Amino acid sequence: MDQTLVILKPDCVKRGLMGEVIKRFEEAGLLIVAMKMLSLSREEASEFYRVHQESDFYEGLIEFMISGRIVAMIIEGEQAIKRTREMMGATDPAQAVKGTIRADLAENNRRNLVHGSDSPAAAREEIDFFFKPDGG
Ligand code: RTP
Ligand code: MG
Repeated sequence: MDQTLVILKPDCVKRGLMGEVIKRFEEAGLLIVAMKMLSLSREEASEFYRVHQESDFYEGLIEFMISGRIVAMIIEGEQAIKRTREMMGATDPAQAVKGTIRADLAENNRRNLVHGSDSPAAAREEIDFFFKPDGG
């Protein structure tokens, strides 16, 4: 069993698409085992996406991620990391395969509804980022 960290981004919450996205994960047999709604501070968003700090899209990404509430969830299942990434589709919805969350529902390559951990190491680190053992 894998665990992965999925975020419903501010566009997902504001557009009322939380239920649709969650339904897709649940219908695929993946289980949500933890979930919380929160707002990221600029510092937290910058830390979370620090691998992209040299990218030209970094500032826009941070502004977007702090523009509204998000939902962080731990999703569990066989090959959960790989399967959630497949279900999300490519970063740019215009490039994503039909039937994926981003292809079907996302607006553009920034406002693309969901984040999912991209490796076992990232999943562990990102789960700890949002769900510390002390409950923080
Ligand atoms: P994520 O990390 O959110 O799951 O998305 P990803 O792996 O598919 O894409 P990544 O390359 O890690 O990029 C992180 C997020 O940055 C925003 N982005 N904007 N050219 C752009 O304006 C651009 N490129 C990426 C997206 O929100 C992307 O999900
Ligand atoms: Mg990524």
